[in-house]
Amino acid sequence: ARIKGVEFVKSSGRAKDCPKDDRPEFAILGRSNVGKSSLINALVHKKEIALTSKKPVLLMPLFTSRLLLLVDLIWFVALIGKTQLINHFLVNKSWYLVDLPGYGFAKAPEAAKMDWCSFTKGYFLNRDTLVAVLLLIDASVPPQKIDLDCANWLGRNNIPITFVFTKCDKMKVAKGKRPDENIRDFQEIIRQNYKIHPPWIMTSSVSGMGRDELLLHMSQLRNY
Ligand code: GTP
Ligand code: MG
Repeated sequence: ARIKGVEFVKSSGRAKDCPKDDRPEFAILGRSNVGKSSLINALVHKKEIALTSKKPVLLMPLFTSRLLLLVDLIWFVALIGKTQLINHFLVNKSWYLVDLPGYGFAKAPEAAKMDWCSFTKGYFLNRDTLVAVLLLIDASVPPQKIDLDCANWLGRNNIPITFVFTKCDKMKVAKGKRPDENIRDFQEIIRQNYKIHPPWIMTSSVSGMGRDELLLHMSQLRNY
């Protein structure tokens, strides 16, 4: 499972604007700040392709050349796209990683939350090439209702899920539980309340933990 190349293809405002293509794709979904962009960057070994949240806008390079213009466009798209756009990245010219808007942003106005739902649900229910949803779960916090609701919704709609636990490197928690304990609690709630049994992987974008396992897992799902 080697990554030879990855290119940003496009940002889509609506499900029906996504690339018309029959190559398989994996959607990356999770709460805002769970580490979606960091995971994409870690998977493809690129620092900036999906762009993480905390980069200051002022560092945006000015478009002095064609290449930088492209870089700027991606920046721009990533900034405005933070909560609204479906971003397609083509890997090895053969499959897509799709960065979806984060859900559960506590301060989002109700209207924006509703918008998130209709728009992302439209994508899930209509994207025929979707192989599986990588549902990212922050292992440094206790099980969150919104993640459980999301897993449940996907399960009920027969959309395959893989739980990808993020931030598993965060072993030094002052109070509360360690990531492995949070993961165990999460799995226990799933076991007791839902009819789904998704595969799961522990990852860290900081240490690279789980990277190879996740790439292998995705290649197995593609060839299935
Ligand atoms: P939105 O695009 O806002 O929805 O966020 P996101 O899900 O893309 O999260 P992002 O990748 O921007 O990461 C959010 C924060 O978590 C950043 O400060 C990251 O540095 C941090 N982070 C992400 N992954 C990890 C990880 O594996 N370990 C640790 N310790 N921190 C992480
Ligand atoms: Mg992001």
